[in-house]
Amino acid sequence: MRVLVVGAGGREHALCWALAASPLLTKLWCAPGNPGTAQVAENVAIGAADVAALVAFATAQRLDLVVPGPEAPLVAGLADALGAAGIACCGPSAAAARLEGSKSFCKEVCDAAGIPTARWERFTDADAARAFVRRRGAPIVVKADGLAAGKGVVVAASVAEAEAAIADFMQARTLGEAGASLVIEECLIGDEVSLFALCDGTHAIPLGAAQDHKRVGEGDTGPNTGGMGACAPPPVLTPALAAAAMQRIIRPALAELARQGTPFRGILFAGLMLTADGPKLIEFNVRLGDPEAQCLLPLLQSDLLAALLAACDGELGDFALRWRPGAALAVVMAARGYPGAYLHGTPIGGLDRAAAVPGALVFQSGTDMRDGQLVAAGGRVLTLCGSGVDLAAAHAAAYRAAAAIAWPEGFYRRDIGWRALAAE
Ligand code: AMP
Ligand code: GLY
Repeated sequence: MRVLVVGAGGREHALCWALAASPLLTKLWCAPGNPGTAQVAENVAIGAADVAALVAFATAQRLDLVVPGPEAPLVAGLADALGAAGIACCGPSAAAARLEGSKSFCKEVCDAAGIPTARWERFTDADAARAFVRRRGAPIVVKADGLAAGKGVVVAASVAEAEAAIADFMQARTLGEAGASLVIEECLIGDEVSLFALCDGTHAIPLGAAQDHKRVGEGDTGPNTGGMGACAPPPVLTPALAAAAMQRIIRPALAELARQGTPFRGILFAGLMLTADGPKLIEFNVRLGDPEAQCLLPLLQSDLLAALLAACDGELGDFALRWRPGAALAVVMAARGYPGAYLHGTPIGGLDRAAAVPGALVFQSGTDMRDGQLVAAGGRVLTLCGSGVDLAAAHAAAYRAAAAIAWPEGFYRRDIGWRALAAE
């Protein structure tokens, strides 16, 4: 099998690492990739959102499968264009990717399918949005309808904060057209977990669950980030709750999209709030999470490539994934200043020593090679993943690996897994 992974982050490094172990693989590429993916795949200098160039490459190389990491190329129609060229893509069509690309579309699917989620309304008028917020009171959640790279959600503790978000998103257009329409919704209370399912249009099978740590600061404080660490499996998501979420959230969404004539193929990521009334959907994403992928894929025992091919062929009906026993924990190292402004180009060392820690894996995100030296080239730069017999062992391996990295301009949270460790 000739396979291309699309993207350049730690999630894509973990995907390449898992696919490289498949006995079905003959050649692996990554576009554009990073120095980490170059260790297990051949990097191709094509941007992750350059649909035309990706399709041309896939056609010229007679690829058997394309595996998109991020959502942008899917929302832009990569799976449709590859399909038209006769190339399998383990990701949804642009129509089905609207589950992530449009928050109001996601909510409409939830309502049509009876999926438990926060009560919501959509607004295209700022005065009407403000009146609604004043009527409802705080806490309340204001969301830009379109894609906003994780910056489009304000969980407002006061009416004033919600009104400020309406002014920023809709009137100042701080997120561009993504804020032309807003979804304003009820604030859900509970533990948050990320649940993944591999889907073939008709069937969905569980692809694991993880707990992300979105805030930059210890104790879950400070601004939101793309994710500062993750652990799996999350003790709060009991097997019964996971089964309930598959039954009440994942499968109804799949059935509704199929009914609309836009079946979902690929990885469906449900951000869940485990409320007193059971799991409720916060949002759908149409891909793996980053850093969730870096701690889920090391736990997968089955051949990832075989599973992704089965999803493309509509053959997940009697497919079951096998998992290694134990747990994994991923710690993200970011450049000082992230998620605000940060320095580029600072040298990073110690990766070999970190990778030599028993049970540890090093995945690269925002890195680059300059004159033979690995340097930081992004906000989130490395993910140190540890696995072990339980979360405590995984935690020890991940943090020993993090301590081996020589990068004074980097930082990481020291408390990844704190909720899960307390519950274990
Ligand atoms: P999103 O970009 O939709 O993942 O939202 C970012 C974060 O905002 C989520 O991970 C949640 O922590 C929080 N959030 C979003 N919607 C809600 C909600 N309805 N109630 C409580 N928290 C929410
Ligand atoms: N870590 C959350 C995400 O990938 O969206």
